[in-house]
Parts: sequence; structure tokens; C-alpha cells
Amino acid sequence: MNSVEEIKQRLDIVNMISEHVQLGKAGRNFRGLCPFHTEKTPSFFVFPERQGWHCYGCGAGGDVISFMMKKEGLGFGEALQMLASRAGVSLPEKKTRTAEDEIVNKLYQINDAAARYFHELLLNSPAAEGARKYVESRQLSSETVTQFRLGFSLDSWEGLKQHLQKQGYSEANLVSAGLAIAKEDRTYDRFRGRLMFPICDVKGRVLGFGARALDDSMPKYLNSAESSIFTKSSVLYGIDLAKGTIREQGKAVIVEGYMDVLTAHQNGFRNVVASMGTALTEKQITILKGLSAHICLSLDADAAGNAATLRGIEVCRNILAEEVKGTKKWLGGSTQLDTEITIISMPEGKDPDEVIAENPNQWQQLINEAQPLMDYLLAATTKEFDLSRPEGKSQLADRILPLIAQMNDSAVREEYLTKLSKLTGIGEKTLVAKIPDLLYAKRKPSKNIQKQIEVPFSTLKTGDQLEEHCLSLLLQHPGLRSAADNLSADHFERSENREIFVVLYNVQENDDIQKNLDAALHEHLQTLINKEHPPTDKVKQQQELSQCIRRLEMRKHQVALAAEKDIEENSLRLTELWRQDATSGRR
Ligand code: UTP
Ligand code: MN
Repeated sequence: MNSVEEIKQRLDIVNMISEHVQLGKAGRNFRGLCPFHTEKTPSFFVFPERQGWHCYGCGAGGDVISFMMKKEGLGFGEALQMLASRAGVSLPEKKTRTAEDEIVNKLYQINDAAARYFHELLLNSPAAEGARKYVESRQLSSETVTQFRLGFSLDSWEGLKQHLQKQGYSEANLVSAGLAIAKEDRTYDRFRGRLMFPICDVKGRVLGFGARALDDSMPKYLNSAESSIFTKSSVLYGIDLAKGTIREQGKAVIVEGYMDVLTAHQNGFRNVVASMGTALTEKQITILKGLSAHICLSLDADAAGNAATLRGIEVCRNILAEEVKGTKKWLGGSTQLDTEITIISMPEGKDPDEVIAENPNQWQQLINEAQPLMDYLLAATTKEFDLSRPEGKSQLADRILPLIAQMNDSAVREEYLTKLSKLTGIGEKTLVAKIPDLLYAKRKPSKNIQKQIEVPFSTLKTGDQLEEHCLSLLLQHPGLRSAADNLSADHFERSENREIFVVLYNVQENDDIQKNLDAALHEHLQTLINKEHPPTDKVKQQQELSQCIRRLEMRKHQVALAAEKDIEENSLRLTELWRQDATSGRR
């Protein structure tokens, strides 16, 4: 038994949850008011037998770990740690350091040493006089300079290099950290005569730098070269300082630039982070999603319709779609769409730095008036089509309807349907009728494939085995991953499987999965990777995977079905359904 299972076994889920929710007995199960959405009649159930929970109102569910994650806003590792100490289970230490870890650690160290050096120069060096003047001209306080560890790089070819060499770092170290440039047989400093902004990860470790010219020279900002710890598109500037406030307020504001973040924080808006001038990426949204339910995106006045903006929004939308994927929300299931995204439109020609410096109240007002993503998308998309022609109207409807269908709140859904109907002149009933086709057109397997997927599946006994079988297929055959497109995290009830799935989904190599996974799950991961399957060819594997996905989907559907009637009665029926399915599989 691995430590995750041991923790779950020692902590009874009913006891744990009843510390947060008042539970009453309902047959063999317990029921109460859902802590994750507002309701008057209890639709939140705890199932002692399978040590799980599910809310039939908002669709959330899982095990004791996912409950604590959601309730306390913790990451998997943090929740596990907390439950481990409650249960008196000791978690495995991270494995002995590999050579790779050594290299990565060295990169953190060298970046930190560089940050200290630059910061010291900015504060005390006579050569930094101009930089200090510049900082003053940008109205940055000394607290801000300290908090963000701003710095200055000397206008010389080897200032940093010589300093770090004295501390024992090699030229190769500097180059691999993206701090020095190698040309022919020599290396020299990448940053010269610039104001330095250390860029940190959530934990406050310095990953790289942004560096601003003090005059009009180009480029305005220069960034560290990408290294194995620094990828510009997967970090958010300011996240280390903003994360606490983001958690507290349940809201994160994303701006574009370094200066926007500094000025915002200095004026008390401490939930602000920057995407550093590029379109938002999935990684960035994922970081924030773990911290808060509401993401507020600030966009330039001229950004609407702009390709990069729409790409960023597409990312948000995809992630939202990810959350609801496979839940067939519109067709009866109900699942909570956790992340809310709103858009702040900046006044013409101004960025948040300028607005806040001029009048913090105006910024507050812009935040208060942020527009729901759907309204913004509707407006931006409308511009793309020629609404004077019937084709244009129909195309607009096809583009917007899937988004509407994926919305959580039925009242809000109705509202947008009405808006779309008014815009296109297409009746609401006609619009609704289009939805199932638009949503499932791409996923419906052809009749032929449908027949093929009825393959024997004798190893299948319980839900957990189903999840694990599916995961081990995906782990052992990376080629299958593209076929798992309509699988989503909420198909997995057990947190350990859900967590592995999420990581798997975000990385390419199996090696990276282990690296990104909490140490407590390494053993479980290995079990899945080594799980033996009867030898088969690629087509069979594909079929098996499809069948797994179909059953996971079915299981979710059944859970939703159970909500409609009495849960007790239905659990009998569900068992019967499972039995039938297993028999037909063994045929
Ligand atoms: P901006 O040009 O809006 O700069 O770029 P800014 O943040 O407002 O800075 P100031 O006020 O002119 O000093 C927004 C962000 O885009 C990235 C930086 O992260 C910048 O903060 N950027 C911009 C670059 O990486 N390189 C550049 O050359 C320009
Ligand atoms: Mn600016």
C-alpha cells in the first residue's frame, strides 16, 4: 500500500468532511449543503463505502484529498502533507538528487547570486546614479525597489561575469543560465547598463531577468535567454509577491508589463501579475487557476480583435472548455465551471502603470467594471463576420454557441442565447437545436469504430482499476495521448490518478511527469508505468483506450443520472449496469 492509500484509509472521509460540512444520514450515505456552491436543499453527498464525495448540484466530486484541496485552496502536495500529518503517515522524501537536479539547483543559485549583485549595485554603486534617477522618475518607492529586488547591470562587458567567477561559477554556468553570451572563444555579459527585474517562480526562486534600457535604445526590454528553468511563456512576473493576495481575494489581475506590476503593487493592488507582453499561455492560466477562481485580464484599448489577444483568449477559453469537456453539460449533466474570466479594457493609449499613477481610483473602477469574457468575445467575434448576410449570421452563431453551451449557470446561458438570437436574428429554439451537433460533431466515432470498441476487457473490476488502466495505457504508449482528447481531469475520482493525469497532460516526456509530480506519487506512477498488459498491437491499444474513456464517461453520466432520483435506489441500478457492462465485455 502506498502512502496515499494509507492516508485515505486512516482518515475516514465522513469524519474529515463533517469538520467542514454539517452532514446528516441518508441511507448508507451522508448528505449536507454543498460547501462549494450556494444551495438551499442539500445535494452534497459523502459515500463512506467508496470513501468519496459528490455534489449533484455543482458536479464537483472526488476523494478526501480533492475535498481538502478545494476547501482550503491547496495544491495536491500541500493537501497531502496536511492529511499525512493528521493521519500520522510519513511521506516519502524526494528521491536522492539526480545529476539533473544538481544542474537545475545550480541555475537557481546563479540567478539568485546575480540578483543580489544587481540589487546591491542599484542601491550603492556610484555607477548606478543614472539608474537611481530613472527609478525616481518612474515614481518607484524604495520599498518597491526592495520588494521586487530591482537592480542595475554595469555598462561593462564583464561586470557580472567577473563577480560570479569570484564566487566559483564557471563561464559555462553563466551561459547556461542565459546571463552571458558566448561568441567564438569568449563570453561576455548579456545585460549591460540596464535596470534589472528579477523574474521569480511561485516559490520566489529567481528564474531569469527582464532588463530595461534607461533611455530610448533598443530593445526596450531584454530578457534572459531561455534556460532549463526559464521559459518566458510559462512564468508570470510578480507571482511570488502576488500569490497570497490572489488567494485571499480569490481574484488575480493579469497585466502586460513589469512596470504595470510594480505600480499596481506600490498602490496596494497586490493581486497583479504580468504576462510579460506575450499572449497568455496555458501554463500561465494553470498557475493562476490553482490560486483563485477569478482571473481578470487587462487588455489594451486597441487589443480587441488583435491576433495575439485573441490567441490569449483562445487559451483561456480552451482551458475553460477543458474543465467542462466530456460532461455534456448542456445535455443534462451539471458541473461547476470554476474559473471566471473577466476583461478590463484600458482607456485609449494608456497602460495600467499610467492609469494607476494618475489615479488609483480609476483603476479600481476599471476592475469593478470588467466585462465577462463572453461579452468581450461576443463583441470581438461579431466584428469578424458580415452580419448583413445570412451566412455571416450563421457562422457567428456556430462560433459562439459551443461557448454558450459550456456555461455553467442556466440563467446566464439563457441571457447569452437571447443576445445571440438578437444579434443574428436566428430564433432561440433554432439556436438550441444546433448545439448538440456543434458540440459533439468532432467526437462522434463512426459506426465502424463503434463496433470495434466492443473488445473484451476482462481485467476490469472496479472504478479505480478503470482509471488506472486508462492511465497506464497513456503512460506506456505516448502515441495514444492524442486519442485521449476528450478525457478530462474530472473523469478521475481518485486524486492520485487525477493528479497524474493533469501532469501527463501538460508535459511531453515520461521523465518530466515524475519531475513534476509530488514525491508521494512516484511509487504509484511507477506502478502504472510498469503495469503489465497482454501483448497487443497499436490498433488494439487504441481500442482499449477508447473503451476506457467511454466507460469513464459513462460512469460520470451515471453519476449525474443518479442525481435525478433517489440516490439509494439508483446505486442498486448502477451496480446492475456495471455488472451488465462487465458481462458484455467478457463475452
Ligand atoms: P511595454 O512596451 O508596454 O512596456 O511592454 P511597459 O511595461 O509599459 O514598460 P515602460 O512603461 O515603457 O517602461 C509590455 C511588456 O512587454 C515585454 C515586457 O515584459 C514589457 O513589460 N517587452 C516589451 C519585452 O519583453 N521586450 C520589449 O522589447 C518590449
Ligand atoms: Mn508602460
